[in-house]
Amino acid sequence: MITNNWRIGVLGVGGYLPEKQVSNAFFETSGMDTSSEWISTRTGIHNRHIKGPTESTSDMAVLAAQMALDQAGVSPNTLDGIWVATSSPDNWGFPSTACRVQQKLGITRAIPCMDIAAACSGFCYGVATAYAYCAAGLGKTYLVIGAESMSDLVDWQDRRTAILFGDGAGAAVIGPVATGGIQTVDQGADGHSHDILTCSPTPHTQPFYDNPVSEPRPVIHMNGPAVFKKGVTVVVESIMAALSACSLSVNDLDYVVCHQANQRILEAVSKKTTIPLTKFLINIDTVGNTSAASIPLVLTDAIHQNRLKPGDRLCLVGFGAGFTWSTIIIEWSIT
Ligand code: ACO
Repeated sequence: MITNNWRIGVLGVGGYLPEKQVSNAFFETSGMDTSSEWISTRTGIHNRHIKGPTESTSDMAVLAAQMALDQAGVSPNTLDGIWVATSSPDNWGFPSTACRVQQKLGITRAIPCMDIAAACSGFCYGVATAYAYCAAGLGKTYLVIGAESMSDLVDWQDRRTAILFGDGAGAAVIGPVATGGIQTVDQGADGHSHDILTCSPTPHTQPFYDNPVSEPRPVIHMNGPAVFKKGVTVVVESIMAALSACSLSVNDLDYVVCHQANQRILEAVSKKTTIPLTKFLINIDTVGNTSAASIPLVLTDAIHQNRLKPGDRLCLVGFGAGFTWSTIIIEWSIT
């Protein structure tokens, strides 16, 4: 738990979604044993975006980053670091996708760039890390991106996972703000639950664009009900711990910006915390589960809809494989 009075906040937000859209009907027509109704009723998802065949995670990250930098009025060459939260990097192992973003943004300063592997909690882990770097005086302005090519990690014949995920990227510029800022961070992990959601090499899988491949490639394996239960538990506990750390109650929150994993998870969190669902920012119906990109993407939507104003108190909360979670209470600083 970190709590202090540093005035570090969000200077700009941006998002990018690929042009290609895939509705639930796609799965019916592809011959999968499912229905549009099952998918929308159990998940709240109606549609997701899928990247083009040659599009990469860093391509999407850069487009989101440019929008966030524009809103912040920050020139890429003045950044002090770039963190990219992703489970679907351009290159497995190395180099990091963050280094590819640095190059594609034309940054000539030798700033630190790294990827963050915390699955769907990655964006909040990244914001917390940027906050800590600022508070420690290591730098002033950081670019935090959540970018995912989830379509690459899915076996498109597996009805338990293929229906859930979408591609996209979201970004935020973190730095000193005149008003508002991050009030507290509560985050953690439970490695004992590592096996309920994994991505591991698997033979005989169906990619989105190509023919089935017999050689192993990394795909998602998920115990859906276990992830559902664990997700709701840690999100509720973490929200309450974060509120308590800054002596706030649920009534002090204007918006909850939770990872968009499943509409029913959002409803369960709303019920257990007694925070009305109307205070949750939700776009899972149109974009699906975009993992680390989901929180900055839904924030970008809210800004475009003029829903956020300076002084609003937001609770950002990510959770995902690991098992990991991260909650940030922030007073919003921008329009
Ligand atoms: N269409 C039709 N039937 C299906 C489908 C489908 N697409 N998927 C599963 N089913 C079947 C199952 O096979 C099962 O059938 P059975 O009873 O004959 O065995 C039945 O539906 C019920 O399956 P459950 O898994 O119990 O269904 P549930 O209501 O739990 O919904 C879901 C499944 C949507 C995956 C839900 O568990 C969920 O949302 N879990 C959390 C997922 C999540 O948040 N993932 C985060 C990953 S993000 C990250 O960290 C990378």
